Amino acid sequence: MNILVTGGAGFIGSNFVFLELKEHPEDKIICVDKLTYAGNLKTLKDVMDNPQFKFYKTDICDREAIDKIFAEEKPDIVVNFAAESHVDRSIENPEVFLETNIIGTSVLMDASRKYGVKRYHQVSTDEVYGDLPLDRPDLFFTEETPLHTSSPYSSSKAGADLLVSAYHRTFGLPVTISRCSNNYGPYQFPEKLIPLMIANALADKSLPVYGEGLNVRDWLYVEDHCKAIDLIIRKGTVGEVYNIGGHNEMKNIDIVKIILNELGKPESLITHVTDRKGHDQRYAIDPAKIHAELGWLPETMFKDGIKKTIQWYLDNKEWWEDIISGDYQNYYEEMYGKKEVIE
Ligand code: NAD
Ligand code: DAU
Repeated sequence: MNILVTGGAGFIGSNFVFLELKEHPEDKIICVDKLTYAGNLKTLKDVMDNPQFKFYKTDICDREAIDKIFAEEKPDIVVNFAAESHVDRSIENPEVFLETNIIGTSVLMDASRKYGVKRYHQVSTDEVYGDLPLDRPDLFFTEETPLHTSSPYSSSKAGADLLVSAYHRTFGLPVTISRCSNNYGPYQFPEKLIPLMIANALADKSLPVYGEGLNVRDWLYVEDHCKAIDLIIRKGTVGEVYNIGGHNEMKNIDIVKIILNELGKPESLITHVTDRKGHDQRYAIDPAKIHAELGWLPETMFKDGIKKTIQWYLDNKEWWEDIISGDYQNYYEEMYGKKEVIE
């Protein structure tokens, strides 16, 4: 099968590419990524020469270029990870979120219709459900929870989800949607809570906790998310939405303290800063449907996953130090000065 993966140079997309090449060596992976600030080709260096892998530096909003890739590669399955993904950036500059997350999704689905793709999978987020109150631990997001968003980021993701459902109903496009909780693990861009706190702690810089740090997120190891998507695209039911989460709710402040403790750094590094505008209180996924229908269960416990993640950032300092210094953005030129690239 030919699987077209967008956003494969980002955090979750790259982990998905690695999983697919390992678990399904018979399949070909075609990666399409614009290499925005969040995309890093260095992440994919170990698979670049794999004959089952092909990379296109392309914007998913570029209709003509996307059409050409579909005509050339004839994908059987499309998995759309490409997105602007950081809530804080969406509060500063919403426009690019609407372009990539909504228009980009429609471009990919139009090409999927035209070239008869057998499955279009939209990687969505639990943030489309809005938030839950901190004092109602009995409440969880199910697939039936109404969409009710807070940030320009989550609104753009919800807009895309509605469009995906509309393409299924109106045009019969064979779609699935997954909505996952917060991921952590290797190759996460150091603007997100866990890698940012690891990087700052290692540099003895202050750790900026928004407000009191009492907001709750439901953390899942990235490989478990990727395994769930792999199951959905192969065994999931067309037209369905699947929530993905591992019942691992934690307060931000507790996560930060665990990181400091693991690294042997003092809690005095914690600095409480102005809260995020419209900050969602609590996310909590009910994953009963994907467990019952597809047998998916998370495999990595948080206590093990966070240790593995911290160790990965210790072992791969060059990867994130290059990001912090901005050097990684020269890598594309260095890499592709020598190669023929299909733009
Ligand atoms: P990321 O920001 O690390 O990576 C996004 C990737 O998309 C980058 O490689 C970037 O270059 C690429 N990209 C951005 N705009 C593009 C465009 N116009 N054309 C082509 N490529 C483009 O994001 P992530 O954390 O890996 O998230 C991936 C997906 O998973 C997103 O759709 C996000 O909404 C969703 N998601 C993320 C989480 C999480 O905790 N990180 C949880 C649930 C769902
Ligand atoms: O729930 C899934 C979502 O998780 C994904 O859809 C998003 O793409 C992903 O970025 C993530 O969104 P969050 O806003 O939950 O993640 P972030 O890492 O930005 O923040 C996690 C929590 O930590 C949140 O409550 C805000 C807080 N925070 C974050 C940063 C960056 C801080 O207190 N300080 C910080 O410096």
